Amino acid sequence: MLYDVLEGLSGRQKTLPSRLLYDARGSDLFEDITVLPEYYPTRTERAILTEAAPDLSRRIGAGAVLVEYGAGAWVKTRILLDALEAPAGYVPIDVSDDMLAKTKPLLQQDYPDLPIHPVVGNFLVPPPLPDIDPRARRVGFFPGSTIGNLDDADIETFLAGAAEELGPDGLLVLGVDLKKSPDILIPAYDDAQGVTADFNRNLLVRINRELGADFNLDAFRHEARWNEAESRMEMHLVSLADQSVTIGGRRFDFAAGETIHTENSRKFDQAQIERLLAASPWQISHDYRDSKDLFSVLLLERK
Ligand code: AVI
Repeated sequence: MLYDVLEGLSGRQKTLPSRLLYDARGSDLFEDITVLPEYYPTRTERAILTEAAPDLSRRIGAGAVLVEYGAGAWVKTRILLDALEAPAGYVPIDVSDDMLAKTKPLLQQDYPDLPIHPVVGNFLVPPPLPDIDPRARRVGFFPGSTIGNLDDADIETFLAGAAEELGPDGLLVLGVDLKKSPDILIPAYDDAQGVTADFNRNLLVRINRELGADFNLDAFRHEARWNEAESRMEMHLVSLADQSVTIGGRRFDFAAGETIHTENSRKFDQAQIERLLAASPWQISHDYRDSKDLFSVLLLERK
């Protein structure tokens, strides 16, 4: 972590890796974001999944194993598990051992007969799957448009790795946030209650705590920016004054107004989706959307 932080802050545009947003406090704050009135993706995707569930279940068929990339979206997972006919297993893959250990018993209570095999690992480098029936169809699940937090290279790596892991008969249910007006996007990433601002600034709290840095939290403000050229929302932390910060014995100078870029959240249009899939082993089998085209749940099959 120290190396990534020092490297990110050494560039001309200072950056910090967005995955560092998710310590225990950050994960709680993200949960709070998902129920904010301005943050449309979670409830929209949930509604699409609920409506699509019977059709998805029919297309997937009986006895499939559900493999979730990143765990914690339990409400959405349950929508699928409830709809699937006699699922043969559930494999949540997550970097957080704690998260998997905490949630497995809760889910198991509600699905007593479902074999649940949590796997600790980074889904960008898909870890080997546990011993599951090789004849069972494998269905990947990557909700929340987390794919939008990745760059092209990581998306390509993920889609190729998932294809290999899920096999030739595999399917992938992928949540994709769609391009829309900045009038909707900016409030979704800069809410009135300031929860997203706390989520962003918590990165500095974490670096102070874990790396002994001396960021003055009152001297940085949250900013959500729409970048039209890259079709993405960006989170930044803006320095409110000329100041310096010491981390791991190194000093970093900030000019007033200079920013640390902390997250990209890409918003896809049809052409971008097709471009990413063209470079992957997947093609669209079905595209489920809400009536306002805010969000898409893609069912992908192998080419
Ligand atoms: C996890 N991820 C899909 C969220 C997003 O919308 O990009 C993270 C987030 N950042 C700010 N608000 C929510």
